[in-house]
Amino acid sequence: MADINYKQFRCQPRLPKFAIPKSYDLKLTPDLTACKFSGTVDIRLDIVADTKFIVLNSADLQIDSKSVRYQSQNGSRGFEAVNVELLVEDEVLVLEFAENLPHGAGALFVRFDGTLNDQMKGFYRSIYEHNGEKKNMAVTQFEPADARRCFPCWDEPACKATFKIALEVPSDLVALSNMPVAEEKVNGNLKTVSYQESPIMSTYLVAAVVGLFDYVEDSTPDGVKVRVYTQVGKANQGKFALDVAVKTLGLYKDYFATPYTLPKLDMIAIPDFAAGAMENYGLVTYRETALLYDEKHSAAANKQRVATVVAHELAHQWFGNLVTMEWWTHLWLNEGFATWVSYLAADGLFPEWKIWTQFLDESTEGLRLDGLSESHPIEGDINHASEIDEIFDAISYRKGASVIRMLQSYLGAEVFQRALAKYIKKYACSNAKTEDLWAVLEEESKEPVNKLMHSWTKQKGYPVVSVSVKDSKLVFEQKQFLSSGLSGDGQWVVPITLSIGSYEAKKSFLLDKRSQTIDIDEPSSLASWIKINIDQAGFYRVKYDDNLSVNLRHAIENKRLSAMDRYGILDDSFALSMAGQLPVSSLLTLMSAYREEPEYTVLSNLISVSAKVARVVADADITLVDNVKLFFINLFQYSAESYDDDDDGYDPKHGESHLDALLRGELFTTLAVLGHEETLNEASKRFQAFLEDRNTHLLPPDIRRAVYVAVMKVTSSDRSGFDKLLKVYRETDLSQEKTRILGALGSCCDPDIILEVLNFLLTPEVRSQDVVFGLNVSREGREVAWNWLKKNWEHISNTWGRGFLLTRFVSAIVSPFSSHEKVKEVEEFFASHGKQPSIARTLKQSIERVQINTKWVESIRNEKNLKDCVQELAFRKY
Ligand code: BES
Ligand code: ZN
Repeated sequence: MADINYKQFRCQPRLPKFAIPKSYDLKLTPDLTACKFSGTVDIRLDIVADTKFIVLNSADLQIDSKSVRYQSQNGSRGFEAVNVELLVEDEVLVLEFAENLPHGAGALFVRFDGTLNDQMKGFYRSIYEHNGEKKNMAVTQFEPADARRCFPCWDEPACKATFKIALEVPSDLVALSNMPVAEEKVNGNLKTVSYQESPIMSTYLVAAVVGLFDYVEDSTPDGVKVRVYTQVGKANQGKFALDVAVKTLGLYKDYFATPYTLPKLDMIAIPDFAAGAMENYGLVTYRETALLYDEKHSAAANKQRVATVVAHELAHQWFGNLVTMEWWTHLWLNEGFATWVSYLAADGLFPEWKIWTQFLDESTEGLRLDGLSESHPIEGDINHASEIDEIFDAISYRKGASVIRMLQSYLGAEVFQRALAKYIKKYACSNAKTEDLWAVLEEESKEPVNKLMHSWTKQKGYPVVSVSVKDSKLVFEQKQFLSSGLSGDGQWVVPITLSIGSYEAKKSFLLDKRSQTIDIDEPSSLASWIKINIDQAGFYRVKYDDNLSVNLRHAIENKRLSAMDRYGILDDSFALSMAGQLPVSSLLTLMSAYREEPEYTVLSNLISVSAKVARVVADADITLVDNVKLFFINLFQYSAESYDDDDDGYDPKHGESHLDALLRGELFTTLAVLGHEETLNEASKRFQAFLEDRNTHLLPPDIRRAVYVAVMKVTSSDRSGFDKLLKVYRETDLSQEKTRILGALGSCCDPDIILEVLNFLLTPEVRSQDVVFGLNVSREGREVAWNWLKKNWEHISNTWGRGFLLTRFVSAIVSPFSSHEKVKEVEEFFASHGKQPSIARTLKQSIERVQINTKWVESIRNEKNLKDCVQELAFRKY
């Protein structure tokens, strides 16, 4: 049987390279009513080995075996396939011919059929409303490995080719692809739209969208036509993204010293979309929330999201599309770089956002995930397509972006930029590996980039650097940091920077051993503050000895430190506390030093730390919670009141800054979560006004989330707040508003209502892309959520199992627990409910988090002076 013969093509991480594709002629005919499509592909390729096989990728397609034909240019001979076999598990199509194919150029023709699926991958349908009527649109999402679900192809990033695409669609619809239209032929109700041939590119970047849309348009000084496509009637909501895109293209052209390569750039909002956005070459697709901005109803946070997502996707047009990773092992080159560069662009466009300070949130999330034993290296092996989804995580994106920032700060911004521009030129229209980038950087900077960076990309984890004073010297020691408090055995080349008493004098050195002692020029200066890892440029944590810690706390109170350093001290202390290396009482005392903190990002981190501390303390000793909450309320009230001109701080000040708007929303959200009476009352009043008039000035978008959280917080068995909020959900046609509401529903403390909320998520009223926003429930709701997950697991894993969204169910619902029993329960449940390779790593990580919480709870119970400390902080008079 053929099955046995084709064993050599099974379980291989990559396709055999008998044939090299050069160009695709692809025609697709979607049927939007029947949700099907048919297509033909004519692939010009080179046969480069003795073979009677052509082996390429295909999945979920019906291949018309009789249509398969290879035409050799050499002698113009035609070859029919004698056997056409789909290896389902491997997503590989084996075409066997009767004899060896002649070396050299030829063309492979295949006809096929497929389904426009509901899985938000491959060629799929999304649903929208037009004039009150539901309609289907057809959309592609190919990254990482789903082009093969739309047409047979060599679906690997290194198999770059040119694409000539044609779409046959109803003549009243808009049909878009990567390139501008070359020709349009109308034939009755149908039209065939042919696009210009693309430059050489990878299959995962091919795109097509068919539906009804409006657009706004602009062009760059170089004549690149830029459009933002939206739902009919909403073109205005595309203007902000359009403006950002045009400016960002100019900025990257300068930064990379290479212009954008295609004649046009389209960006389009898709109502059903699994990721946030996708950088398809020349046709970038987005979730609505990541592209559309409504002057009246979008919040500052929405605006910033749109700008950074656009900047991220456009960065890929260079980093990813023009220069592509050689294999998925190097995915982080795409995602880490795009993330880092997007901050560069956002900073250029909106300096008042202080976006590099906000970047620290990226590092924090990277450190958080990488502090688990179940983390993974930035560069890892990928052996099957199904393993790729899982690496689109905080390691590739956030740790990736952070180690790039670390390297840039070590080498200097100018050298770094010069090297990047050189790298882009050298590998344009080609593929690169991580080492290739290091080589260019090393050449340009003359620094040991390879040696430095290997320790960060090839092994998981990162160090905590302990610093202490001994005999008027500073002793540095590195050890792997794990949130579990256990010790790992990693070792890194750590770029250490430090300032003593002033930012004027900055020292730096590479810590490449376990420990190192350095002399201080003026030992008397040891009495002043010493901050290590200036501006948190390095991807590591710092643990200070007691004296150094106290000095830093005073320096914070006396406003001596930079915002990034204040952020870092807080964040490191929080992490150390979780790992059992710093008592919670010390953490709380440190937090009290941030009472007059002026900076948005620092306060925002203080808010998120406080939420986590409040939860774990509640698990450790419920009698402490009221005082802990009181302490936090007092802490945040100082900032909340500093908004106060003559009112309560809810209304935007005239001409206030972007960061003030962000902060207001977060402050009131946390006050609501903490149960602050006045906030809850004020929120109820304003919500009432909003119900009567959706355009009331009493509920500006920046505080809506806070108000919705407050409404749910006070909702109990009477359900009234919940029902009213659902009414707003149903009536709005703005995705950002729907998302805000979904994110607030779980704040309720009543388990019955939490269950209703969770069940609501599974109704057709919530798009499958949005369910994950509703999964973060209150502490009181987590048990209900876990039972709900178990009960609905089959349905949930069938519905979301074919993408990365399923992992969010597991992490959101499992991670908040903190007991040994729960670890056992979770392990048992998943052990008896089938192995799901796509959630395997997330499950292990979530369980590890529960173990970490458990240990943390136990150590808090053993903290003897915590009660007194909390009492003192809660009632301290300032
Ligand atoms: N290339 C990704 C899209 C993607 C993600 C494809 C996961 C396949 C699987 C895109 O460039 C991206 O990174 N999008 C982010 C948004 C970005 C601003 C961090 C996303 O989707 O969250
Ligand atoms: Zn990306």
